[in-house]
Amino acid sequence: MIDFNHVDKIFQKDWYALRDITFHLDKGEFLFIVGPSGAGKSTLLKLIYMDIFPTRGEVKVAGYSSSSIKTNEIPILRRKIGVIFQDFKLLPYKNIYENVAFALEVTNTPRRKIKKKVINTLAEIGISHKRHSYPHQLSGGEQQKVAIARALVREPFILIADEPTGNIDPEGTDEIIKLLLDINASGTAVLMATHERKLVDNAPKRKIVMEEGKIVEDTDAVHN
Ligand SMILES: Nc1ncnc2c1ncn2[C@@H]1O[C@H](COP(=O)(O)OP(=O)(O)OP(=O)(O)O)[C@@H](O)[C@H]1O
Ligand SMILES: [Mg+2]
Repeated sequence: MIDFNHVDKIFQKDWYALRDITFHLDKGEFLFIVGPSGAGKSTLLKLIYMDIFPTRGEVKVAGYSSSSIKTNEIPILRRKIGVIFQDFKLLPYKNIYENVAFALEVTNTPRRKIKKKVINTLAEIGISHKRHSYPHQLSGGEQQKVAIARALVREPFILIADEPTGNIDPEGTDEIIKLLLDINASGTAVLMATHERKLVDNAPKRKIVMEEGKIVEDTDAVHN
């Protein structure tokens, strides 16, 4: 479903942000990407949703290739990928319901369908009781749940989480990770990047460790 084949990414002359990255991610798999600041985690994730393209090598995602995808196919691919970030990126003047509904409004989903999907997704994530609140009235952990609901309401095949617990207290962090594991258990692939190794040490899931743009450890190397 996701294939990196000897991928290099160079932003500045002769300096590799990513170097010779090769790995495969199966449908429905859970993967942690761990590594210190600057290791190249976010760069790797951006290659998956084709925000950037490799300098060398190829990235394949859901049948699309970085070498041949057309500009007008990129939004189609992005609709199938949910992405959440450290800073939530919720719209401050929309309430929680409206924030999640907006993700479907921009895809021309019929209004009746939107309502049903939003209500179901908010319930699934356990944040329905906040649907009339505005983002600033929620804790960091609650805001991240809304961002997760907004990503999932489009029924993506993968949820990409770039440092999703970076702005959340330890209790909220555990809750978000548990939620990501639950989401994965119900069939969605999840790829979470973090620099906090201790967060992932106890989770019984595949880990790729990165340093200076390279993969230095893959706990599931048989997949490569
Ligand atoms: N658009 C860009 N132009 C130039 N250099 C970039 C660009 N994006 C990333 N880099 C560089 O590539 C390297 C990897 O960055 P990246 O953001 O992928 O690291 P990261 O592992 O996500 O770090 P963090 O844990 O701090 O988020 C860094 O040295 C960064 O400065
Ligand atoms: Mg990053």
